Amino acid sequence: MEALQKVKLKLRVVTQEEEEKRIPISLQYLRLTIAGENEREKKLRNALKLAARIKKNVSFFFYIEPLLKALSLRDRITGEHSWKVAVYSTLIADTLGIDEELTTNIYVGALFHDIGKIGIPDAILLKKGRINLLERETIKNHPIYGYEILKNFNMPIVKNILLKHHERIDGKGYPLGVNYREIPFYVNIVSICDVFDALTEKRPYRDPMPMEKVLSILEEESGKAFYPEIVDVAVSTFSKVGKIDLWTIEKILCELEEINDKESSNSGGRTWNEIFTSDKSST
Ligand SMILES: [Fe+2]
Ligand SMILES: [Fe+2]
Repeated sequence: MEALQKVKLKLRVVTQEEEEKRIPISLQYLRLTIAGENEREKKLRNALKLAARIKKNVSFFFYIEPLLKALSLRDRITGEHSWKVAVYSTLIADTLGIDEELTTNIYVGALFHDIGKIGIPDAILLKKGRINLLERETIKNHPIYGYEILKNFNMPIVKNILLKHHERIDGKGYPLGVNYREIPFYVNIVSICDVFDALTEKRPYRDPMPMEKVLSILEEESGKAFYPEIVDVAVSTFSKVGKIDLWTIEKILCELEEINDKESSNSGGRTWNEIFTSDKSST
């Protein structure tokens, strides 16, 4: 069975349950076709259209976006990483044909996945060299801190992403050490994008890894850290789209915000608040 079909089967629970409540506006509605654009830019635009709409339409964003800015000011690398993981995750979700409601949750969850790093001391978070074992154990608390920060928001999918983005389907992840039975498919999408961005970017203690090496690491983790179906789709998407940079994200976001201003922002039958308050997804 093809990877994409397998993924659709896994997601069928979500799509069947949500079918009647589906937001009338699909990503397709917002898809722009600009003559002369290459496939890479088209894919990026598709992912970023959602980002531009969320910023404009989701009221709680005004309350939690400052948290992200605070994290970025404290640790620029993690701030930039958060934006890129959000865009990569939206790209993969779009490629998998995930509906807009779940994709919106995935985008916001990915954007805030490392927000708990606010609770990690500077001496560890901003350390220039490699961290030691004890420091690594301290960093491993950030998923719990993130979950605690957003605890009172009624956003189960987003909070699951914050809490479980370092879990592995073989049960060897952290902080809970749960396995595939308790790791929703959507969380694992963010996990793979998290690893992809971390390895393709420079860190104070190492140079960025070449793309081929990163893709082979992801493939090696198929069935161990990640669901094989997600690895297949992610590797093929990353090899087409490549690394993205913040400048490109900002440039496209600015254009899209202008376009959105001219379009109707009517989100249909469900309010944006409702989009975040249900978690009928399964693994
Ligand atoms: Fe993390
Ligand atoms: Fe991360």
